Amino acid sequence: MLSNMPEWVAFKDAARTSSVNVQNLRLIQVAGIDLDISGQVSSPQLTEAARALLAARDFPAMRERLLSGGIANTTEERAAWHTALRAPAAIKEVAQERQRLNAFVRLADSERRWRNIVHIGIGGSDWGVRLTVSAFGYAGTWREVHFVANIDGHAIQGGLAGLDPHDTLIVMASKSFTTAETLQNGQRALEWLQAAGVENPQSHIVAITARPETAKKWGVPEANIFKLWDWVGGRFSMWSAVNLTTALAVSEDVVAGMLAGANAMDNHFAQAPIEQNAPIQMALAGVVNRSVLDYGSLNIAPYDFRLASLVPYVQQLEMESLGKSVDLDGEPVNVPTGPAVWGMPGTDAQHTFFQWLHQGSDGAPVDFIVCQQADHGWPAHHTSLLANCLAQREALLKGKGYDAALQECLDAGMSQEQAAKVARHRVHPGGRPSNLIVLSRLSPYTLGALLAMYEHKVFVQGLIWGINPFDQWGVEYGKVLAKGITAELSGQVQPDNASRDASTAHWVQTFARSLKA
Ligand code: F6P
Repeated sequence: MLSNMPEWVAFKDAARTSSVNVQNLRLIQVAGIDLDISGQVSSPQLTEAARALLAARDFPAMRERLLSGGIANTTEERAAWHTALRAPAAIKEVAQERQRLNAFVRLADSERRWRNIVHIGIGGSDWGVRLTVSAFGYAGTWREVHFVANIDGHAIQGGLAGLDPHDTLIVMASKSFTTAETLQNGQRALEWLQAAGVENPQSHIVAITARPETAKKWGVPEANIFKLWDWVGGRFSMWSAVNLTTALAVSEDVVAGMLAGANAMDNHFAQAPIEQNAPIQMALAGVVNRSVLDYGSLNIAPYDFRLASLVPYVQQLEMESLGKSVDLDGEPVNVPTGPAVWGMPGTDAQHTFFQWLHQGSDGAPVDFIVCQQADHGWPAHHTSLLANCLAQREALLKGKGYDAALQECLDAGMSQEQAAKVARHRVHPGGRPSNLIVLSRLSPYTLGALLAMYEHKVFVQGLIWGINPFDQWGVEYGKVLAKGITAELSGQVQPDNASRDASTAHWVQTFARSLKA
């Protein structure tokens, strides 16, 4: 149990007695990214304790297991080998699938075919692609791309609205090819093609899945099925053919650039010493903030409009991976694990919830993410964006004491009495931890490296907490219950209310009645 390990106790004690040293610039540079961890607590004792804790968790061997395709996902007895998808000397099967994908895209481009793409997938089969397409296709592309994830019928209705079915490609991305949302939305899309009289409607559907036979049975032609593998976790599948949509919407170079950037981060993670290893340092700061300083959440603040979907991407990555409190031996971890992850791009976030970050009773560590260079032609906008990012971070770090607040009020012309009253409301506690992640510019390479940095951070945190970051049993339970309730609501079986709480029983009956009417 982690809480009983002497290395954990030493780490926790060292973290408690460490502080943020604002005069000490701590930078790690890798793959076009500067990770500034100066805003996290540090001390020589903490560095030593971290080293010992990682050694006690057998870190080098576990990292090697992950990167070489060993059984890293022990509760499901499989590898979590997403790094193999981005290695330059790809496994034969992976290289072949990449070639097939590129051939598909080149043919479509040469024929100027598929003016519209409807990407149907959810979770890991959605966020990474959505992020990449908005990051590099933000100014519009000649193909119109719609993303449909939700089971809510309004999503598929809106996703198909206004499109010409004759020139629309439906991309169904699902590792399992059993996900209810994706199958139902795919079915609606197929019916839409049929209703429009499209010749051979199945040929308008492509599937990316680890279950090609299931996709074939569903009706997708074999030539339109791209494979991913069981050893790729669902939330890591964006490194696979799931990016077909990106290649069609933006270009195959974007996909190649992302893979190269992620691979550069993989190599860094594998080789850099602990103090200079970006994912490890992010993980250690995350563990201190969550398990020692007791921050319940982590805020992601991309100061780049194009990275809005980074928030849900990291949210799924961190929360689905680390939202667990039982260790690999089935024992309670006994320290707080994965934080809630939330956020919004700056500067919108400043006008939405930054007040809470600055003066709320809880506060949260923040990952500020910004690009040094912009890709638009209005330098004044970028100057303001950079200034806002630095200013918010500085305010969270530095805070504002009562005396400074009082002086500010007096300088504004208030009476002594009024100033004394108002000043208390203007005090900022400060000392709130943050990372500043600066991308030289937003390129496929830097974005790939950024995402891989978060992935490895999550792996290290899982290792320290002793939990398996690669399963998601909690999500599975909800899926099973939903299946049963769906059968009841649609009248296939009688509601089984004996074992239910009164509220669920009431609503199952009420909804069943209204659906029947
Ligand atoms: O939410 C659970 C989950 O299994 C995720 O891990 C995954 O990204 C998502 O559902 C979609 O799964 P699939 O790609 O199999 O449709």
